[in-house]
Amino acid sequence: MNQSKDVNVIMWVTMLVMIMVHGAIARRVYVGGNQGWNKDINYTLWASQENFYIGDWLYFRFDKNYFDVLEVNQTNYENCNPNNFIANITKGGRDVYELKEARSYYFICSKGYCYGGMKLAINVKNSSPLPAPPPQGNNAIASLYSGSMINIMPIFILAMSFLFFFLLKVCY
Ligand SMILES: *[C@@H]1O[C@H](CO)[C@@H](O)[C@H](O)[C@H]1NC(C)=O
Ligand SMILES: *[C@@H]1O[C@H](CO)[C@@H](O)[C@H](O)[C@H]1NC(C)=O
Ligand SMILES: *[C@@H]1O[C@H](CO)[C@@H](O)[C@H](O)[C@H]1NC(C)=O
Repeated sequence: MNQSKDVNVIMWVTMLVMIMVHGAIARRVYVGGNQGWNKDINYTLWASQENFYIGDWLYFRFDKNYFDVLEVNQTNYENCNPNNFIANITKGGRDVYELKEARSYYFICSKGYCYGGMKLAINVKNSSPLPAPPPQGNNAIASLYSGSMINIMPIFILAMSFLFFFLLKVCY
């Protein structure tokens, strides 16, 4: 093996590992499940049935003509006050937000619906708990898709393609 081939192999392995690590932890959490980010939904109730971890992405799905999403601090969350917001997450109505720290996050809609419950408070934890015991037989694949949040298939396919090219490189 010459030196440039070694460098190539190291590069492929590094990329593969990065993709696999990322695929293992990155989750997309659909805020509100099927109902999305909408008025007259109790997000306190919704959030109490979910877990949030560092590296998760919140996915807000809403009609941008009527709604928006702002990150605010606790006081302004409680008072439904959009002034001095921390971040404006509103873009096209299919908007994502990465949870980078283990802390509380607060989001509100500034268009008046906050008082009706269009506000979200979550508590982000450090890391996922131990994985659930492996399900039986065919359910193993199905379980990858269960819940409202995990979508690792594209990453899995990408990782497999890299693995394929990597093996090709090593063998020839
Ligand atoms: C939402 O649900 C929580 C928990 O069940 C409850 O304490 C709260 O009063 C509800 N909020 C509204 C606006 O209905
Ligand atoms: C939130 O921000 C408001 C205005 O910027 C400020 O008065 C309030 O003390 C802040 N609350 C917290 C919990 O930091
Ligand atoms: C948030 O960003 C959206 C899209 O850029 C913009 O239309 C909206 O006015 C912003 N909201 C606030 C409160 O700044």
